[in-house]
Parts: sequence; structure tokens; C-alpha cells
Amino acid sequence: MNYQKILYEILILAGISGLLATLIVVAKAILQNYGDCEIDINGKRKVTVKGGSSLLTVLAEENIFVPSACGGRGSCGACKCKVIDGGGPVLPTEKPYFTPAELSDNNRLACQVKVKNNIKIEIPEEIFNIRKFKAKVAKVEEFTYDIKGVTFDLISPREIDFQAGQYVQLRSPKYGKIRESVTRAYSISSKPSLENQLQLIIRKVPEGICTTWVHDFLKVGQEVEITGPYGDFFIRDTQADIIFVAGGSGKAPIKSMLEDLAEKGCQRKMSYFFGARTAKDLYLTDYMDSFKDKFPDFTYYPILSHPEATDNWEGKTGFVMPHFPDALRDPKNTEAYLCGSPGMIAAVTKGLKELGVPEDKIYYDSFA
Ligand SMILES: Cc1cc2nc3c(=O)[nH]c(=O)nc-3n(C[C@H](O)[C@H](O)[C@H](O)COP(=O)(O)OP(=O)(O)OC[C@H]3O[C@@H](n4cnc5c(N)ncnc54)[C@H](O)[C@@H]3O)c2cc1C
Ligand code: FES
Repeated sequence: MNYQKILYEILILAGISGLLATLIVVAKAILQNYGDCEIDINGKRKVTVKGGSSLLTVLAEENIFVPSACGGRGSCGACKCKVIDGGGPVLPTEKPYFTPAELSDNNRLACQVKVKNNIKIEIPEEIFNIRKFKAKVAKVEEFTYDIKGVTFDLISPREIDFQAGQYVQLRSPKYGKIRESVTRAYSISSKPSLENQLQLIIRKVPEGICTTWVHDFLKVGQEVEITGPYGDFFIRDTQADIIFVAGGSGKAPIKSMLEDLAEKGCQRKMSYFFGARTAKDLYLTDYMDSFKDKFPDFTYYPILSHPEATDNWEGKTGFVMPHFPDALRDPKNTEAYLCGSPGMIAAVTKGLKELGVPEDKIYYDSFA
């Protein structure tokens, strides 16, 4: 009898919770129904969107792809734009990315601005050249235990026009226990003249949503969605010497740059420093070394910080920076191209400046 009473009370409680949950959903739908909102872009174009999502999302639905390297998490600062009117208050998540002057000049992060009413924005014109591609996995190569090279055939559009060093954004679908689809930035490792294909070099991040999908689920023949090209990491057209510094998957844009420069018959003095822990972190070593036959003055420096006895390593050891003087003949006339983690970029920039490389000649892409 007591059991019946307990069961009855549980049912009543479950009913009340269900009703409350339904009421919350209905109230949310009513309160957050912002209806149609008009976005005025650069004073030249107007689009009407459903309010309630981020500016980044609604623009993407209109095939306007604002760079969003972190996939809209507010952690990369790539989605900067100007919101002249209707953007609401600046969020605390946005403030670290702007100076007070930039904030008063209406700069915002598109992923943090929620569209609730008509908005007036300004975005760089080149954003209109960023396109969405349907692509198919053509080849997957195991470069190391945690780095894969993935080659995609472009299906539609069939061609991509980019500058060596730029990146694309790859969308991973829902898979396994992961119930969200995310986009992540990956530098293009193939050369621009290979218009119908794209190659990416992707390092597996433990528990990482997109990289786990790439490493454990993505198969040859599978179709994917890519947008791009994005970014301003490309070789400046000068005659200065070049020093590249990039370990791990940071090799991706450097590979693309070297292939492109080789095709263009570049005569500049170049050195590439690739830092790794042990021999098992090295990859494409012979290929990188082979660029010495394509340029008049090129040296590839693979450097191991923690070589193991079994590596039988006879090359350079330690950290990369102490080896820079071997390559710098005229620091003031040297450009540096760095790619990797924010920590590595900060440390190498400091080291290069101390050696006399001008700060305005140090270019980088941070895999933040
Ligand atoms: C411009 C740009 C270009 C990039 N190009 C490349 C590239 O060519 N190849 C490549 O492999 N990656 C590249 N990245 C990094 C890439 O965009 C993703 O951040 C990375 O692959 C992790 O994605 P995920 O979804 O697997 O991990 P998430 O699910 O995003 O992250 C899971 C956890 O790992 C942490 N985490 C995220 N990234 C890293 C990391 N790199 N190392 C350690 N911990 C991390 C997060 O803080 C989080 O706690 C680039 C990033 C930028 C901004
Ligand atoms: S998309 Fe990264 S901060 Fe907005």
C-alpha cells in the first residue's frame, strides 16, 4: 500500500517537473523570439535573418563567412567586425580582444553579438570572397603517431584560390558520443597551384572534438564541409632573408609556402627550424631537406629537445632558439614566419628581437 503511495507521489513529481520544463521551453521560445531582423552590411547590402542567434551564425547562414578560428567560442578573436548600430552592450568576453580606442570605434566579436533587432555592421570586403566547399577525402597519411595528413578533392566549387600560408575551417559532424558539430581552423599545407585539392596536416588533441573525428572516424571517400580561405599569414614580396620556425602541425603552412616559392623560382636565403621532442615527432624530413635542391640557399634544421638513446640522433639538440645565429647573416634584413602555439610564438618573437630581427618583420599564425 505504501509502495503505491510512493509510486503515486513520484508520478505527480515527474508530472510537475515535465510541466515546468515545458513551460520554460515555451517561455524561452516566446521571450527569445526576436522575429525577423535586418542586417545592413557596409551600407551596401541588406539581409533579413531570424533573430536569436549570434551575428557570426546568421551571417554564415547567408553564406558570409567571417573568420572564426575557434568555432565561435570567443577564444580566438578572429571574428572581429564593426557593429555600428544595434549590437547591444559589449560583453566581458569581448573586452580582452580590443583596446579602449577600438571599443569606442564600435569593434566587436561577431560570435558574441546576439542578433535581437536590426543591426548595422561593417566587415572587410575580402570576406565576401570566402566560400563554402563540399569536398571528399582522397587520401589519409600517417605522418607520426599523432599527426595525419589529409588530402581532399574539391567537389563544389571545384577550385580554390588562396595564398600559401592561409587556412580553412573544417566542420566536424556529430559523431559517437559527441552531439555537436564544430568548426576548427587548419592551415592549408598544399600549394595554391593545386587548385582542385587541399591538404591539411592535423595533430590529434587528446579529447579534442574535431581532431578525434579526423583521426578516428574520418574515412577516404567521406564528404566534408570546408570554408575558406582565411588569414593574412603569407610571404611578403621582398628580397629579405627568411627564417621559418614551426614544429608539429605548424609545418602545414610552411610546406605550402616552400612549395609555392619553389614554383616561383625564389632566390632568397631561407632557413627552416623545426623543433620536436624525440625522433618519433619528426616527419617529412627528407622532403623538407629536398628543398635545398630547389633553392640556391636553403637549410632545414630539425632539432630534438629530448632525443632518446634509441633515436641514435646525431643532429642538433636542445631548443630551437640557440641555433638561430647559425642562420642569421643580416638580422635587420630578415623576415621571420612563425607558426604554432601562442607560447612558442611569444618566446621565439622575443628571441628573434634580441638577435636584431625587426618586430615588424616577424609574421605569425597562432594555433590558439
Ligand atoms: C589559424 C589557425 C590555424 C590552425 N591550423 C592548424 C593546423 O594546421 N593543424 C592543426 O593540427 N591544428 C591547427 N589549428 C588548431 C585547430 O584549429 C584546433 O584548435 C585543434 O585542432 C583542436 O581542435 P579540437 O576540436 O580537436 O579540440 P577542442 O575540442 O577544441 O579542444 C579540446 C581541449 O583541448 C584543448 N586544446 C585545443 N587545442 C589544443 C592544442 N592545439 N593543443 C593542446 N590542447 C588544445 C582545449 O583547450 C580543450 O580543453 C589551427 C588554429 C588556428 C587558430
Ligand atoms: S570565433 Fe573565435 S572569438 Fe569569435
